Amino acid sequence: MVAASLVVIVVALLVIVTVVVVKVAGPKELAAVAGTGAPSAPASAAASVQPTAPPSPTPTVAPASASAAPPAPAGFDKTKYSIDDPNSIWFVVNKLRPIPDAANFVPPNLVDLPPDIPNPNGYQMRGDAEQAMATMFDAAKAEINTQLVAQSGYRDYGVQVDAYHTYVNLDGVAGADQTSARPGYSEHQTGLAMDILDTTSGCSTDGLCFSKTNAGQWLAANAYRFGFLLRYPADKTAVTGYEYEPWHFRYIGVDLATEMHNTGVETLEEFFGLPPAPDYAG
Ligand code: DAL
Ligand code: ZN
Repeated sequence: MVAASLVVIVVALLVIVTVVVVKVAGPKELAAVAGTGAPSAPASAAASVQPTAPPSPTPTVAPASASAAPPAPAGFDKTKYSIDDPNSIWFVVNKLRPIPDAANFVPPNLVDLPPDIPNPNGYQMRGDAEQAMATMFDAAKAEINTQLVAQSGYRDYGVQVDAYHTYVNLDGVAGADQTSARPGYSEHQTGLAMDILDTTSGCSTDGLCFSKTNAGQWLAANAYRFGFLLRYPADKTAVTGYEYEPWHFRYIGVDLATEMHNTGVETLEEFFGLPPAPDYAG
């Protein structure tokens, strides 16, 4: 009887212990297995991180949309015309850059000047330059009431031989080389240069006289509007190889003349990145 009672008590105790264990462990298992207690936190954390994570791809997207934008305006095209071809209006001739085959070179489209342009020595010029120069002479009349004079234009190789030797006889070689180009090295042989004076000042193509006249100062300030360049400026002897020539203007076209004016570049050598040409080679 006692043994039977003990068995009943033991069984009852086992039942109680089992019930208590199940009650305590149950909630822990649910949380661990389903992960549904914590899930809301990670989910909301992920949601808050995701918007900040994409920024790394953003920079790679931005350039793609930038490349689709209209291209920036192109700069001045320095290669539009040749600087090496003596037929080009951008041809650069100096003491280091002679006219190729100069003894036989004659520029295209040489024309007489219009009869209303004073041309005491009967010079010709290339047609495109002549048109621009006629317009410039008209503008000088209208704007400063001055009649300009076409003093010296196209000089062929033989004429330049005579001109250079005249200076050599007067000043010696070193002196001549400061003011007169040797044959084959003169802009005048391209048909694109003109020595310009006026009818009233009495100045010549020598010294500083013309630089002090209204005409000389108007030309220095306005020639670019018509496509001309004051080719041998006062402060550029070390670049051009020649003394200041306030009368010598070279036609290069309105686009280039305007670009040089606007950028303040005074010589073709500097504009095109060519070496200075103070002396002849060799
Ligand atoms: N006086 C210029 C440099 C020429 O002779 O071409
Ligand atoms: Zn000249």
